[in-house]
Amino acid sequence: MSIRFENLTYYYNDPENLVFRNLSVDLPGGLTSLVGQNGTGKTTFMLLAGGRIMPQEGTVFLSGIDTREMSSEDERNKLASFVYQNMEFEADETVGELLKIVFESGSHNPEEKNLIDDLVGAFELGTLLNRPFQKTSKGEMQKINIAFSLLYGSKTIMMDEPVFALENHWKDRVLEYLKNYVHDKHINLYYSIHELDLSRKYSDNGILFFKNGSIASGPADRLFTKEKVEEAYQVPSELLYKRESLFRDHLLKPANPKDYENFEGSVKVYE
Ligand SMILES: Nc1ncnc2c1ncn2[C@@H]1O[C@H](COP(=O)(O)OP(=O)(O)OP(=O)(O)O)[C@@H](O)[C@H]1O
Ligand SMILES: [Mg+2]
Repeated sequence: MSIRFENLTYYYNDPENLVFRNLSVDLPGGLTSLVGQNGTGKTTFMLLAGGRIMPQEGTVFLSGIDTREMSSEDERNKLASFVYQNMEFEADETVGELLKIVFESGSHNPEEKNLIDDLVGAFELGTLLNRPFQKTSKGEMQKINIAFSLLYGSKTIMMDEPVFALENHWKDRVLEYLKNYVHDKHINLYYSIHELDLSRKYSDNGILFFKNGSIASGPADRLFTKEKVEEAYQVPSELLYKRESLFRDHLLKPANPKDYENFEGSVKVYE
């Protein structure tokens, strides 16, 4: 396994803001989706797994290396790249120039350069190549950021809600591409997503986040079952598959701190 949490405890600023307690788990490989209600810790989990934040107790091993021991930002990025939610950055270059720069600074073989054209074709970025990156739309930027992360060539990639700004048919196309890419290149890719149907359709494995700080992981078809999803969301599953608006109104309430009173920090692993 390429990522391992050992007795990990994490809180933001103050132990009262506990997110995970004494969590030990080997993360599954391949394409893995992270699913759970708002505030259950999906983003925090990926930041820990990718060495972007450090636990107060316990250890994260990323490809066998303690994330606290990574010698440089470059080493960390090569081990795991991270596509943040709403990622924007200052750049005067055009999209086409940036795609090349990212490929050249990453770890792919130069012979794999056709990956740039492949991504431009698959994500329909052709008309944007001469456009400054800053002048693209939210959805376009999201596709470009995904392309950057693949072109960089890390063996592990974290993506925080990578398709949230895309139209429905694009969500499918991008996730389909990611699934094929992960299988072709034998990498591990973790992404958070709120659409359960897509998560099930396009993931090899899943991690389900519960409000009490515990998680469950396993093959997507065994994990995203009616019972387990209802347990995580505490509502009938029929509601979960309805339109997004309904989903938002009924389910995306913040976690109640009271739920943490019976904090288990447990991990269930389905084989
Ligand atoms: N920078 C921060 N400072 C303090 N608390 C934070 C911070 N970021 C997140 N939290 C809290 O940590 C918990 C986990 O948050 P996290 O962002 O990991 O959840 P999430 O599952 O990604 O939610 P969402 O689906 O809304 O993206 C929540 O209770 C949240 O309020
Ligand atoms: Mg999040």
